[in-house]
Amino acid sequence: MAEQKLGIRLDELEDDTVVAVSVGEVSLAVVKHGGKVYALDGKCTHEGGSLGEGYMDNNELICPLHSGAYSIESGKANENTPWVSDVRAYMIRADSASRELYVDV
Ligand code: FES
Repeated sequence: MAEQKLGIRLDELEDDTVVAVSVGEVSLAVVKHGGKVYALDGKCTHEGGSLGEGYMDNNELICPLHSGAYSIESGKANENTPWVSDVRAYMIRADSASRELYVDV
């Protein structure tokens, strides 16, 4: 794993607004929730919906196409939406001085 700059700062994210971010070849869905930042693989396991265009429901990220639900903390699929399976969750860190976000991809 290598830490890469995400290209956005912590203060540029609005709470519970999901954004799509690409880091090299990797597409991510990034969201700030409860003061912490999370990143999941950006591609839904069902039919490839863009999770970066999804939305939050409590602590879950919801796919915009058929409402598959993923834990933003772990990437685990909600058992009530069995048409999706787990996605990878990435470690995110904010630099304490610049507030730039970094991800391990
Ligand atoms: S593509 Fe995401 S739930 Fe169908």
